[in-house]
Amino acid sequence: MQRSERTSPIYTPDSGPPQGARPSPVILEKIGEEGVFRMLSDLYKKLEHSPIRGMFPEDMELASRKSAAFFVQLLGGRPLFSEVYGPPRMRQRHLPFEIDEDARNTWLACFAEVLEGAETAYGFPSEHMAGFRTFLDLFSAWMVNKLDR
Ligand code: HEM
Repeated sequence: MQRSERTSPIYTPDSGPPQGARPSPVILEKIGEEGVFRMLSDLYKKLEHSPIRGMFPEDMELASRKSAAFFVQLLGGRPLFSEVYGPPRMRQRHLPFEIDEDARNTWLACFAEVLEGAETAYGFPSEHMAGFRTFLDLFSAWMVNKLDR
């Protein structure tokens, strides 16, 4: 788990790219771009105190804004990520980081904590919570690029 070079071979999950539906655009309609940025900022605060902190850059707030830009467009909003960084190609962008099932579970657990209070904190629509969690579960499986041990 380091920022620079990978030392392990690239593993590709048998499941292939996620086929599930995107999360509902109603989420963005309800929480707004501002809510997405706050939610991702809160996620990165959790990641900062997690066992996978070392994968991330020094400036977690900046990193959170990059992810938030992606989530805005994923949720049907303005193409904030692609405009600045180009095509998403998320699996490819994660390849420099050695992500195994443990790392994935840590990431998901941090997001789950943020989602615990999301209805109150950002006005997240509860009827779209299950779909959003399923999306994160499926999409994160596709980010795994290292076999455990
Ligand atoms: C499976 C667990 C995951 C881990 C351990 C992980 C880890 C990371 C790391 C280390 C970075 C680099 C941060 C930086 O240098 O700025 C990153 C970037 C990013 N991640 Fe993840 N990630 C995971 C899953 C996801 C998922 C499921 C999504 C979206 C649904 C996502 C969205 C992003 C975005 C948008 C970026 C910025 C990409 C870029 O640098 O251009 N990540 N992630």
